[in-house]
Amino acid sequence: MLVLGVETSCDETAAAVVEDGRHVRANVVASQIATHAQYGGVVPEVASRQHVATIVPVLERAVADAGVPFGALDAIAVTAGPGLVGALLVGVETAKALAFALGKPLIAVNHLAGHLAAAFLDGGTGQAPPSYPHLALLVSGGHTALIRIDGPGRTRLLGATRDDASGEAFDKVGKMLGLGYPGGIAIDKRAADGNPRAVVLPRALAGRDDLDFSFSGLKTAVATLLARRALPEGQEMSDFCASFQAAVVDVLVRKSRRALALQGLTSLVVCGGVAANRGLRAALAVAAQEDGFALHIPPPKYCTDNAAMIAAAGTQMFEHGARAGLDLAVDPGLPL
Ligand code: KG4
Ligand code: ZN
Repeated sequence: MLVLGVETSCDETAAAVVEDGRHVRANVVASQIATHAQYGGVVPEVASRQHVATIVPVLERAVADAGVPFGALDAIAVTAGPGLVGALLVGVETAKALAFALGKPLIAVNHLAGHLAAAFLDGGTGQAPPSYPHLALLVSGGHTALIRIDGPGRTRLLGATRDDASGEAFDKVGKMLGLGYPGGIAIDKRAADGNPRAVVLPRALAGRDDLDFSFSGLKTAVATLLARRALPEGQEMSDFCASFQAAVVDVLVRKSRRALALQGLTSLVVCGGVAANRGLRAALAVAAQEDGFALHIPPPKYCTDNAAMIAAAGTQMFEHGARAGLDLAVDPGLPL
């Protein structure tokens, strides 16, 4: 089965063709980062306009890369929320038009369910897809949550952030450090040769039994430190980045381990943009060895926003009978 995925919820215009919910035949992502970087963050109206300009070439490219005609597609899956309303509209209206013109079924996908489904894509590592039940750690720009998953669409929220998402913390601290937008990847790079113990930073809610997160205190601690001193440079900057990254990673790893133990689960899926972070990937690999759980982290290109994950989630939903009508509306606040 060939499913076309379409994703325009934020600042990437993406289309992908996925076979049987697992094999990525084409994966095209047109990033708007360069455009938004000059404003220090995503400007919604600019994002919508750029999606309009980019969506058709991106779709054509994906189908050409897959080496199939549009008519060979079995269904069209599109992100309907959560996200920026104007950005979502571009993808949803385009997918509707395509579904209508081709006479193919339309599937509405929750962006977060898409991130969760990324673990089922063949990442080229030879690892089998995750089995059910499993635990998912979803770490993106808008969300940080631990979710128990008993089957496709059968999710239970175990814990979530009470304030900032982990990706948001990376981006805000990156901005404070003068590393530009988005901060996550910049901090990841600088942290690689830094000392994670150089700067002492708080680990919020770490000692508590609940599975919630909080990152605003860490952000404030960084702001307070920086207000008293000049911006770090050179090795000091690397040390600062490594220390901040370690503070985020420590809490994410600790709470994931606790959730696995409390739920009696032996399989962990990690997804969302922050799952691309090398410090987090390395720390989780060590934890998986020590605790003996199976670790599923997609390659970085399937962690950050993409349409292959939307096609994968759409395929699972299609198999369970999901179909959207041509009256499909976007929902910017759609919960998982
Ligand atoms: O999943 P995603 O692409 O979009 C949302 O659905 O939010 O996640 C974007 C977030 C941003 O905050 C970005 O800074 C962060 O993921 N991110 C990273 C890395 N790559 C992306 N954070 C830390 N380390 C990275 N390598
Ligand atoms: Zn996302």
